[in-house]
Amino acid sequence: MTVTSLIDRYGRRIEYLRLSVTDRCDLRCAYCIPEGFKGFEEPAHWLTFDEVERLLAVFARLGLKRVRLTGGEPLLRRHVDDLARRIAALPGIEDVSLSTNATQLAKMAQKLKDAGVTRLNVSLDSLRPETVARINGRPVLDEVLAGLQAASVVGFAPIKINMVVMRDNVDEVDDMVAFCMDKGYVLRLIELMPMGDTARRMGYVDLQPIRQRLQAHFDLVDTVLPGGGPARYLGTSDGRFTVGFITPLSQHFCATCNRVRLTVDGQLHLCLGQEDRVDFRSLLRSGTSDEELAAAIGRAMALKPERHDFNEQPEKLIRFMNMTGG
Ligand code: GTP
Ligand code: 5AD
Ligand code: SF4
Repeated sequence: MTVTSLIDRYGRRIEYLRLSVTDRCDLRCAYCIPEGFKGFEEPAHWLTFDEVERLLAVFARLGLKRVRLTGGEPLLRRHVDDLARRIAALPGIEDVSLSTNATQLAKMAQKLKDAGVTRLNVSLDSLRPETVARINGRPVLDEVLAGLQAASVVGFAPIKINMVVMRDNVDEVDDMVAFCMDKGYVLRLIELMPMGDTARRMGYVDLQPIRQRLQAHFDLVDTVLPGGGPARYLGTSDGRFTVGFITPLSQHFCATCNRVRLTVDGQLHLCLGQEDRVDFRSLLRSGTSDEELAAAIGRAMALKPERHDFNEQPEKLIRFMNMTGG
């Protein structure tokens, strides 16, 4: 096979692929999918597990190390645990993780663990039932808490909680800190990204003042955690509590970007905030050899943009977050 390494034109080594296994979701988080959205991908376009496995095997030979299953909601894709098992078995893949809204996690946690999923990140924006119903579009707080509990019981640790901070829940940051301290979860505060009109309406909050306040109040120091993503972490010196900050707007992290995204219909997106992409579904379905796939991956890396323009052009992206899974 041609030796093409996963390095882009800015010298960034791409070792992390975010794999969206479905664009569907049982929730309607207001910053992600608009209520009434109808533009879901048709099943005939979904990459099959065989296609995903083949493409990721080529990626892994070129140097890919981490795969994160995302959605929409990944646990809605039937037999997603079988797919996770197949990916975890690929030579070179060291880390198979999953980001979920946890509504189906109570029944899936053990299967995911058995399949070789190493780490779980769970979305939770509020601990108030009515705020969850408003932000996430459905009254699911109890299911999510049950899912989290099940994940702990089967041994996932650390579990990271993703809280997108916005106008509607900014007054709950301290409650979330207390909750995560109590349960032993890692809290990650995320700045709202302007993906589509629905996200732009939610009221962006700059996380820097919150970061400074928490750092002073709990005497937090810089720390690192296992993971491939852009979070920067602070923790108590006894290691009992860690909080991560994902700040694409107030302090972007594009210079150290290590990731690309594959959508359910086989489009390889080179940046979350740009439209550059390569159609791998057509390649996979037109008799392309592994050698040619590797060459196409190499050419795709050269298209990876330097950075997003969320601050400069917040109106630019009409793509909704459920297409790329964050
Ligand atoms: P770890 O491996 O645990 O570090 O996971 P992760 O943070 O990469 O994954 P997760 O799915 O939990 O993503 C958390 C948030 O980070 C989501 O809101 C993503 O949209 C955001 N995020 C991840 N990668 C990027 C990126 O390249 N650019 C931007 N702007 N946001 C990103
Ligand atoms: N801005 C920031 N984060 C978002 N997510 C979804 N949409 C947005 C957005 N517009 C987050 C979810 C989930 C993660 C995978 O992406 O909360 O935790
Ligand atoms: Fe679903 Fe996740 Fe989007 Fe919420 S953020 S609507 S849980 S895909």
